Amino acid sequence: MSGRLQGKLAVITGAASGIGEVCARLFVAEGAQVVLTDLNVEAGEAVAASLGAQACFLRQDVSDPQSWDALAAYLVERGSGLDVLVNNAGVLLKANIEDESLDQWHKLLRINADSVFLGTRMAVRLMKDSGGGSIVNISSLAALLGLEDYVAYSASKGAVAALSRAVAVHCRKHKYRIRCNSVHPDGVMTPMTLGGYPKGMDPSAFTIDADPMNRMCLPGDVANAVLYLASDESRAINGIEMRVDSGQAVMGI
Ligand SMILES: NC(=O)c1ccc[n+]([C@@H]2O[C@H](COP(=O)([O-])OP(=O)(O)OC[C@H]3O[C@@H](n4cnc5c(N)ncnc54)[C@H](O)[C@@H]3O)[C@@H](O)[C@H]2O)c1
Repeated sequence: MSGRLQGKLAVITGAASGIGEVCARLFVAEGAQVVLTDLNVEAGEAVAASLGAQACFLRQDVSDPQSWDALAAYLVERGSGLDVLVNNAGVLLKANIEDESLDQWHKLLRINADSVFLGTRMAVRLMKDSGGGSIVNISSLAALLGLEDYVAYSASKGAVAALSRAVAVHCRKHKYRIRCNSVHPDGVMTPMTLGGYPKGMDPSAFTIDADPMNRMCLPGDVANAVLYLASDESRAINGIEMRVDSGQAVMGI
């Protein structure tokens, strides 16, 4: 199938790498115009350039409110509205409750959660006046399980899920035709996780392709879920937490 996002303008944050990059490639292949944003200018520009006229890149620090104001101004000036926002940019930092510092807690909440608040608020303001849209917030399975070693990361992703539900209800009650859903991947093979493998080990040995009991999937597996939530095929799907975890969350003993 192609053209599932034909005529739509999408913004994807953190699109220079990993899940965001694969979402951008898939969205363009499905007919969308895509604005890629990221802190990493070199990589972001290279991805956008490889996607041709349907894509452009803007530098953005998603934790900075001014960067969202600048993005909103760009979108208004562009005049093409906003149909889809994928709040994807994020960082993973390790610490359990005894080791976590307040500084790192604040840093993670700023980058992973403040960003989604700021982006979602911008999107609702723009979309409500232009007939609606779809907001897809990338959370994590960490929001739903108890990941001992990632206490602040888990909390930041829990905030993303709860915010998404509240926004879904708000938009429905106001008849904005804006849907807001969160996506909850388990392990995904991206630069975020690749550093965690022992040197000399082939990361592909850890994927579900190698063994269905493995926890690592590919960025495309997440991007396919994001595409569905972004497209009108999911028009009746609102306020859900879509797990992309091969059933990890429902595994028994
Ligand atoms: N990889 C996984 O196993 C996994 C699992 C669950 C959820 N996630 C989530 O998926 C999202 C994408 O992660 P990924 O695995 O593709 O990682 P990644 O590191 O490959 O990509 C993250 C991108 O976000 C950008 N970024 C980081 N901080 C930023 C900021 N302040 N402003 C703008 N851009 C910034 C980075 O430059 C990078 O391009 C994240 O929100 C992550 O928490 C990932």
